[in-house]
Amino acid sequence: MIILDHENSHNIGELKKGKRILLVDGVTVSFDGFKALNNLSFSINYGELRCIIGANGAGKSTMMDVVTGKTRPDAGHVTFGEAVNLLEMDEPAIAQIGIGRKFQKPTVFQNHSVFENLELAMQDDKRFFKTLFSKISGEQRDKIEETMGLIGLKELAKQDAGILSHGQKQWLEIGMLIMQNPKLLLVDEPVAGMTPQEVDKTGEILTNLAKEHAVVVVEHDMEFIRSIASKVTVLHEGSVLAEGDMESIQNNEKVRKVYLGE
Ligand SMILES: Nc1ncnc2c1ncn2[C@@H]1O[C@H](COP(=O)(O)OP(=O)(O)OP(=O)(O)O)[C@@H](O)[C@H]1O
Ligand SMILES: [Mg+2]
Repeated sequence: MIILDHENSHNIGELKKGKRILLVDGVTVSFDGFKALNNLSFSINYGELRCIIGANGAGKSTMMDVVTGKTRPDAGHVTFGEAVNLLEMDEPAIAQIGIGRKFQKPTVFQNHSVFENLELAMQDDKRFFKTLFSKISGEQRDKIEETMGLIGLKELAKQDAGILSHGQKQWLEIGMLIMQNPKLLLVDEPVAGMTPQEVDKTGEILTNLAKEHAVVVVEHDMEFIRSIASKVTVLHEGSVLAEGDMESIQNNEKVRKVYLGE
């Protein structure tokens, strides 16, 4: 008798630092004949913090849409872990398997405390009142405490999310993502609208997060990218133009041609 094990049918393999967690291979997405992604290929390792940069319209958000199952490519492969074909899965299944995405605008529950927001994010069952009135386990409490430490909001545990600063709301939302135990986090323009201090702290949070996850950050803020000093992928017209550390990117001829018109 053959027993199909649901867990094993999505076996992403062992996760360890330096091992590939995401492979985007030859992906093309067309909108009415226009190629938003054009034979795009790159990969991300577990334990890595990768920055993706590129001009408006370069295809950064479309790439995230493909990885999270929102947009289906015309061609190419997207593989999670060793062999999970993400193109066969729908959005909820992709979230379930461990890919979390943070959009630019924070969407926290304004009238609930920091702690409660994290508690709500942890539940599969999003029915508000049921969640808030049921008891959480010690283990769950520990996870919330640990996450509040990671996002620097421990002191504000009881504070309503509505009165947090823009930066603090962004961190809380990152925390809410963490509560769902993702392995790969996709974060779109996290530091837009932040104060310089908040930008620094966001860099710290994402760097710490990347140690136990893989983090892909789309950003326009070059100072921020320089400060986190990670590997950078430059997208241009839906393809990878260059990849490397910030210094090699700044000295890259193709990048200079496209960005500085040299
Ligand atoms: N649903 C869609 N229908 C038609 N064209 C689209 C669609 N989504 C994206 N595009 C086009 O695809 C290209 C890439 O868009 P995308 O949003 O991925 O760029 P981006 O790199 O995220 O840009 P930005 O920095 O402005 O956020 C753009 O030219 C955009 O107009
Ligand atoms: Mg975008």
